[in-house]
Amino acid sequence: MPLALAALASPPPVAAQPWPVAPASDGAEQISQLFWFTLVLATIVFILVEGLLIYSSLRFRRRTAIPTFEPPQLHGNTRLEVMWATVPALILIGLFGITVTRLGDLNQIPTDPGIMHIGVTGQQFSWTFAYGNSGVKTTNDLHLPVGQQVVFDVTSVDVIHGFWAPDLFGQIDANPGRVNHITYTANQTGEFRGVCAMLCGAGHSGMMFRVTTQSPADFQTWLQQQQSGGGPSPAAAPGASPVPGASPAAGGGTGDPTMGAMLIVQHGCPACHIIPGIPGATGTTGPDLGSHDNVPPVGQRPMIATYPNGTVPNHSPNDLKAWLLNPPALKPGTLMPDLGLTDQEATNIVAYLETLK
Ligand code: CUA
Repeated sequence: MPLALAALASPPPVAAQPWPVAPASDGAEQISQLFWFTLVLATIVFILVEGLLIYSSLRFRRRTAIPTFEPPQLHGNTRLEVMWATVPALILIGLFGITVTRLGDLNQIPTDPGIMHIGVTGQQFSWTFAYGNSGVKTTNDLHLPVGQQVVFDVTSVDVIHGFWAPDLFGQIDANPGRVNHITYTANQTGEFRGVCAMLCGAGHSGMMFRVTTQSPADFQTWLQQQQSGGGPSPAAAPGASPVPGASPAAGGGTGDPTMGAMLIVQHGCPACHIIPGIPGATGTTGPDLGSHDNVPPVGQRPMIATYPNGTVPNHSPNDLKAWLLNPPALKPGTLMPDLGLTDQEATNIVAYLETLK
């Protein structure tokens, strides 16, 4: 039950738009055409073969008692045999040729310096997107401008993941220690679902992301909002303050727990944590945030995230927020990724977690 629930609950809410029926990028359009071409060809062959089979079974079935004479005996038919070996071979060679040609076209990675690059980093179990040199990073939330070609530089920090937004393009592996490239141009605005297409651990099924395609103007507005909105981890210098960018008022009074619960789902937390009140939050890679084995729920815990040099005892909402804003800075090597949260997002998530008492 929990797994089925997770599958239903974790994906971000997006319009159902199954590929290859409605391809949303130029590349996906080409893949879609190839799919339909192959499907139609295969259907024609299928109907022909099955039709002949059924026809022969009916037409030449035994209608009378076994005749006393022996029917004429055949020993092969060279012309027919050559035909049914050659025709399928020609069809397969044709399909192969068309597919390879099209793959070659699709795999052309432009080197034009003006083209936007988006860095894609897979990590158990989330996706981080870095937009060119804007400094903007998002987690599990990919924004794309319509009509502009984008090159994705895809890699991983741990195991092999598979970067795939089916409506927009084919899948590409995210390998640790290597950067793979893929490119496409979104051609319609909308929201689409992306997944991890490579079994990568216990949280694989929850490793999903949302793709929002928007007009170039809207995209620029969004990018600027991200830049000015405090951005992800403004604490590039982690030692500066125990709570990067925390205002004195950020103690929890300003957080919205309902928004926090939505953000928890959006950022993929359910894949790794058990979180009371969040549907599908059944992950076991990270700590169980509910009450278990005499451990109180997270809002009541005397300490959180055991840091290398001790713990945060008597943790306050601000400590929890500092942790969420940049876990690796506080505890190098932690499995908890930097989610690229803004200050307000972290405040909202803390507001939700603090309700767990
Ligand atoms: Cu990452 Cu499956």
